[in-house]
This record gives sequence, C-alpha cells and structure tokens, in this order.
Amino acid sequence: MSNLVRVSKENDVAVITIDNPPVNALSPGVPEGIWAAIDEMNDDPAVKAAVVIGSGRTFVAGADIKEFGKVTSGGPRRSLLPLLLHIEDSAKPVVMAIHGQAFGGGLELAMAGHYRVASPTAQVGQPEVKLGIIPGAGGTQRLPRLVGVAKAVEMCAEGKPVPAREAAALGLIDRLIEGDLLPGAVAFAREVTGKPVPKTRARAEKLGTPAENATIITAARDGARKKQRNLKAPLAAIDAIEAATKLPFEQGCQAEAKLFTDCLFSDQSKALIHVFFGEREVAKIPDVPKETPLIPVNRVAVVGSGTMGGGIAMVFVNAGIPVLLKDVDEPTLDAGMGKIRKNYASSVQRGRFTQAFVDERLQLITPVLSYDAFADVDMVVEAVFEGMALKKDVFADLDRICRSDAILASNTSTLNIDEIAAATSRPEAVIGTHFFSPANVMRLLEIVRGKKSSNEVIATCMQLSKKLGKIGVLVGNCRGFVGNRMFGPYRREAQFLVEEGAGVEAVDQALVDFGNAMGPLATGDLAGLDVGWRIRKEYRHLEKPGIRQPFAEDRLCEIGRYGQKTVRGWYLYDENRRASADLELPALLRKWSAEAGIPRRQISAEEIVDRCIYALVNEGARILEEGYALRAVDIDIIYLNGYGFPAYRGGPMWHADTVGLKKVYQRICEFHQQHGELWAPAPLLKRLAEAGKTFAEFDKEQVAAA
Ligand code: 3HC
Ligand code: NAI
Repeated sequence: MSNLVRVSKENDVAVITIDNPPVNALSPGVPEGIWAAIDEMNDDPAVKAAVVIGSGRTFVAGADIKEFGKVTSGGPRRSLLPLLLHIEDSAKPVVMAIHGQAFGGGLELAMAGHYRVASPTAQVGQPEVKLGIIPGAGGTQRLPRLVGVAKAVEMCAEGKPVPAREAAALGLIDRLIEGDLLPGAVAFAREVTGKPVPKTRARAEKLGTPAENATIITAARDGARKKQRNLKAPLAAIDAIEAATKLPFEQGCQAEAKLFTDCLFSDQSKALIHVFFGEREVAKIPDVPKETPLIPVNRVAVVGSGTMGGGIAMVFVNAGIPVLLKDVDEPTLDAGMGKIRKNYASSVQRGRFTQAFVDERLQLITPVLSYDAFADVDMVVEAVFEGMALKKDVFADLDRICRSDAILASNTSTLNIDEIAAATSRPEAVIGTHFFSPANVMRLLEIVRGKKSSNEVIATCMQLSKKLGKIGVLVGNCRGFVGNRMFGPYRREAQFLVEEGAGVEAVDQALVDFGNAMGPLATGDLAGLDVGWRIRKEYRHLEKPGIRQPFAEDRLCEIGRYGQKTVRGWYLYDENRRASADLELPALLRKWSAEAGIPRRQISAEEIVDRCIYALVNEGARILEEGYALRAVDIDIIYLNGYGFPAYRGGPMWHADTVGLKKVYQRICEFHQQHGELWAPAPLLKRLAEAGKTFAEFDKEQVAAA
C-alpha cells in the first residue's frame, strides 16, 4: 500500500484515507493506493463497506496538474478511468465522504463511488475548462447521469464550483453530514450495507430525450461562443456531454478521452495551466521569507473619497475591514459617499449583493474630515489627487498621527514611492498599493516596493491582497510601475498605426480578435484621453529630440475630444455610452498625417497585432532585466488581471514564448529598422532569442539562482 493512501477499520467499515498534501491531488501513487485499498476491503470478509475520505483541508482537488506538462512533453498518460470502473464494480458499497473540495478528477472519483456524503461547507465542481481541458475521467459521462444534461453542461462548460447544499438538491450528494464527517459517513455506510450497489454509469433516468437535449446543447454552444469567446475547451466539454446523451457509457468515455487529449495538447491549455501556477507563483517573494511576521490589519483609513478612494473603501469593507474615509470638505465627502451608495445599489439591482449585505458594509464606512481617529488604524491607503507636493503633505501628516507600526500605502499610479516615503520618518512603513479602476471590480493589485519598504509591510500587503479578493503582484518602483509602463508603448503603437493609415475600428478589432477584452483606442476613450495628454504636456521637456512621438490623441484633446466623458474621442458615444464610428475622423487623420509628413498605407491586421503586442513584450523584457518585475510570469498575471489580456494566451510574455522568441525578436528587429530607436530590441529578449530560450526558462533560472 502506498503511504499516500491509508486503510483503517471502524469495525465493519474500511476507512480509506487519501493523504497527499496539500490538496490530495491524484498524483502518481494515489490511484494505485486507492485501487489496492478497494481490493483489500473486498478481500476482507469482516468488512462490509468502505468510506473514502481526504486527509487535511480537502477531499481531492483533482488530477495532479503538474503531471500534464510531463504528458505534453512526451510522458505517458495515466488514465483514471480503469480505477473508477474498479471502484464502481466493487461488490461492497463505497461511500465518498467529501469536505473542502471535490474538484475535477476529485469529483469524478466521487461519482464512481456508490454514494456521496458531504459536509455542508464542501464544494464540488468540474473546473477543468479553466485549465483549457475537459473532465478526462468520465466526468462528462457520469455527471449528466446524476444531475441531468443541462446542469452537467453548465458545470463542465463554465467550471464554476457548486456548494454542497445545491449539489444535494441536484442529487449529486446523497446526504449532508452536519457534525463530524467521518463518523457520519461510516454510519451512512452501515445503512447501505447489504443493499445492491447503485452504479452511476448504469443510470439513465436523467439523460433526457433527444429533443430536450438538442435544445440544451444548441443553447449551450451559442452561450459558450458568446461568453467564452475563442475558448475551445467549453465547446469540447459540450461535445463530450452530447456524446453521453447519444452513446453507451464506454463509447462516451472514448469520445471524452479524445476530446480531453486534443484539449490537453492545445496552446490554450498550456497557457491556462501556466496561469494557474502563475497566480500562485506571484505570491512567492524570494527575499521575503514565508515566515515573515504579518502586521494585523483590522482597521483601515483611506484618504481621498474620489474615484479610487471610494472604490478602495468598498474593497476593504467588502472583506469585513472597517474603514475611515477622509476628504477635504463636507460636500466632497458627501459626493464620495453618494457614489459608493450608488455603486452598491446597482450591485443589489444586478443581484451581486443583498440589501442586507450592503447595509452592513455601509455601516463599516465612517466618513471623516480630520485625521483625529487615524491614530487607531493599522493601515492607511492614500488616494488623493496625483501630485507629489500634495502626497508629501499627506504622508507627513500621516507620519505625525499614525501609530509607529501602521502601514502607510499610496495608490499613486505614476509617482516615485521613495520620494513619498522620504516625507516620513519611517520609509520602511511606506509602500505602493496600486489598485486598478474600478477598484472594487478589478482583480489586480500592484504592490510597489520602495527601496526601504520592510519585509513585514510587503508580506502583509501580499497576504492582504488575498483577503481582499485581489491578486497581489509585487513590482519595483519605476515610472508607471509594470502594467502602465508597458501600456505606454502598446498604446503608442496603436496611435502610430492610425497615423500611418490604419482605420480606428481596424486597430481595435484586430486586438479584440486577438482576444483582448477591448481595443487600445476604445480603452483610451474609456479612461479619458486627456489624462495622458496632461501628463505628456507636463513631461514634454523630458522627450528626446528626434524620436517620433504619437500626436493623434493630443490633436483629439486639442479639439475637446477626451473620449466617453465628452461623448467624442476615437469614437462617438450615445447616452448609453455605446460607441459608433465617427465618419469625419478619417479626413482629420489624413490631414494630420499629411501635416506631419507621414505617408499613409494599407496596414494588415497581422501588423496591427504584432506592433501592439510586441511593443508590450519588448518593454516587458526590459522591465524584467531591470528587475522591476520578479518573473516573466508576474508580468503575465498583471496583464491578465489588469489589462484584459486573454488568459488563454497566458499573458504577453508566455504568448511570446509560444510564438517563439526568435521569431518575436526578428519581427522587433524589422520594426526597429522601419521605425527607429523606439523599437530597439530589449537586450534580454535578444539574449534569450539567440540562446534559443524562453521567458519561462529565464524564470526557472531566476528561481534556481534565488
Ligand atoms: N494539482 C497539483 N497541484 C495543485 C492542484 C492540483 N489539482 N490543486 C492545487 N494545487 C497546489 C497549488 O499549486 C498550490 O501549490 P503551492 O503551494 O506550491 O503554490 C497548493 O496546491 C495549494 O493550492 P492553493 O494555493 O490553490 O490552495 P487554496 O486552498 O487556495 O485552494 C483549491 C485549493 C480550491 C483546491 C485550488 O487549489 C484549486 O482550485 N485547485 C485546482 C482544482 C482543479 O482545477 N482541478 C482539476 C484538475 S484537472 C483534472 O482533475 C482532470 C481530470 O478530469 C482528469
Ligand atoms: P479623484 O480626483 O477622483 O479623487 C481624489 C480625491 O482626493 C478627491 O475627492 C479630493 O477631494 C481628495 N483629496 C485631495 N486632497 C486631499 C486631502 N488632503 N485629504 C483628503 N482628501 C483629499 O482622483 P482618483 O482618480 O481617485 O485618483 C486618486 C489617486 O489614485 C491618484 O494618485 C491617481 O493617480 C491614482 N489612480 C487613479 C486611477 C484612476 O483610474 N482614476 C487608477 C489607479 C490609480
């Protein structure tokens, strides 16, 4: 018996415990252990039934995702199907006892048992689509037999977890066990001892009629094409469930296996698996040990109740942390609170929150006009206007008033954190927490490390990001930090393309077709073109002479077209902020290009994508080499969670690896020749391309060296 699976006896019931921390993934050794345990139970005349349970925090989180990379690089694929048949064919009843999660292969294992019992807090699900694959161990065949075709399609194509209570109502869980799970499961096993064992695969009563299923499947395909644009796995999951409705179980499993393998070997799946591990990797900071003591954050203050301050206050109270919200005068503070209320009201309307939840959250926000109560808070997030002098004043005030162990964070998007920290007597307590707009919605939190930010402050902010439902990525203190620094060259190229003859819609459409949530020009309209315009005017004296600068957005701003806020920008907007093309703009663009002496030409969608995306990659490579991002994967996670980059491409750096760095480098060299210095290839990119390496390999080398 492998030590990953233990068997003990509760009199006449065998207890099979899976013990593969941290999440009992079905790694090599676990399936073999379960197989042997089932045999041992069947061979023991004194044992009448078995309970399978997970040790630690969960039942089984699924197949071991790390093994997939081995399979796609030529290793053998170890199917779980024979084990699941072996369990289902056991003459004695097998009861699956679920706590924590039964996800993916974990739920497939559970469905091969004859019965399932669960703690009320457990969750079940087939989240494989989030990894770009589908259930590969009969999940698409057994699930519709237990919950019906419509629910199975939803679970497998969308991948959302289902709480135990709902699963019980669906018939997926046979009994909820309120107290201790194991004794409850053993008692249940005794109740079913001696009865004929029900096999999931032999059930057909929920499989529906061909007419019903045709409607469900067609609607699901339409929905998946719309809601999960460009993704292959949801459609494959629907195909596999359709097979369950049309074919006998064994043939259905064969169809599933083929679809699973196709998905597993796809670039989408490799990218999404990179994202899964990446989201966990970014939490690891090589020089901030795991054991770093954390500063308890139970009470927070936010300075500034504007767009960002209001959203940030909502983020904290949504996580149950009370907030003091400060602004300069009553009307401004009232307006800030008004926006928060309006925001919450629309969440209630959309069914995201209940009124009771919102009432509780609002109770947790205390609007204030002075710093008086700041002496009690554990952390302050400053979100006043973007201006160094103002921020320094605010931080000097905070330094005077706040407790010596309080964290002082700034939400600045462009300013130097070290300079802000220097306005205090405790630069080690100062850090950037760069939320993205709308702060209560966007998942990304760039945590900006100042030269002197202490490990405790960094570790606390990283940990806090999780509690706030954000994904925290630690970045260095350079202009624009990581995300916005890369976004500059990306949007610069979008403007250049338009100035050279590409249509506004053509530029945006090419990037939307690539998979981005929005095109770069429409994004500019949304954020306000005047924001960048003002910054450019302020920093014009720093621009190197002779280097081409985009002018199109400056011209738009000069004629009062700031984007959505002025109902005109790159597009025209109606009262519902719906965009339409401006038929007058092409003539203006032609005029501006002629004035600047830029010849106009036909530009392909391929060139649009290459120029915008490789501008991201080239800047990303510089950031990486300069150490402002810890790993290439950190940049990927920033782009997926803050900038609408498609997860199935894994992020800009992973995408470049997938295309091949040699090819990317060559294309950047072409652009360098055609467009000059702005396209000088990043030295790191050149080195990796010439060595035939990838950014992912660079990351591994960095980790090994740390
Ligand atoms: N395989 C390998 N490692 C896994 C894993 C899995 N299925 N699930 C989680 N882990 C690892 C994580 O990478 C992490 O490792 P680290 O500590 O080295 O970074 C560790 O386990 C803990 O995971 P989390 O940090 O995510 O822990 P949480 O407590 O926040 O979440 C969880 C637990 C909800 C189970 C979450 O980990 C999760 O959703 N896991 C993935 C579930 C999944 O996608 N299952 C399907 C797998 S594919 C499959 O089963 C195919 C089958 O159909 C054949
Ligand atoms: P905003 O103009 O909407 O709000 C700023 C608020 O700060 C105003 O309500 C103002 O009255 C208040 N304020 C000014 N001085 C104050 C003081 N001494 N004490 C208390 N309140 C004071 O600005 P916004 O957009 O919320 O930006 C705030 C910060 O967040 C800036 O540093 C900005 O760069 C950054 N940021 C903005 C993003 C955005 O999309 N708007 C995104 C990410 C960061």
